[in-house]
Amino acid sequence: LSGTRYYHEKVIDHYEHPRNVGSFAKTETGVGTGLVGAPACGDVMKLQIKVDDDTGKIVDVKFKTFGCGSAIASSSFMTERVRGLTLDEAGQIKNTEIAKELCLPPVKLHCSMLAEDAIKAAIKDYRSKRTPNR
Ligand code: FES
Ligand code: FES
Repeated sequence: LSGTRYYHEKVIDHYEHPRNVGSFAKTETGVGTGLVGAPACGDVMKLQIKVDDDTGKIVDVKFKTFGCGSAIASSSFMTERVRGLTLDEAGQIKNTEIAKELCLPPVKLHCSMLAEDAIKAAIKDYRSKRTPNR
């Protein structure tokens, strides 16, 4: 694990203690699911948001990531970053922000891209299930 020392402490923390791992029950309402893959490596990330239909804000978030440490850390970070945000706010988060916060090296940028793609896909899924659009 010699590569580990190149990672910033914050990545290690999100890697060793990932937040909000899991899935919502199928019966849960107001859930949007984003399932995305990274063509480069085949890693997969599932990110789910639970939205309060009245306020339009994200009240809970869960993820499952089958991928490298940086992808897991990125998704864990993302779950904490978007809680309490509106869908528009959450949809504007860029992978570069995640990469910066977690001090990801350039070669790991695409791992943080998975988290950006996943939140966008989850928002789109939530909106597609709900009319009128918000
Ligand atoms: Fe897996 Fe980059 S090596 S996404
Ligand atoms: Fe594949 Fe990081 S190496 S997501």
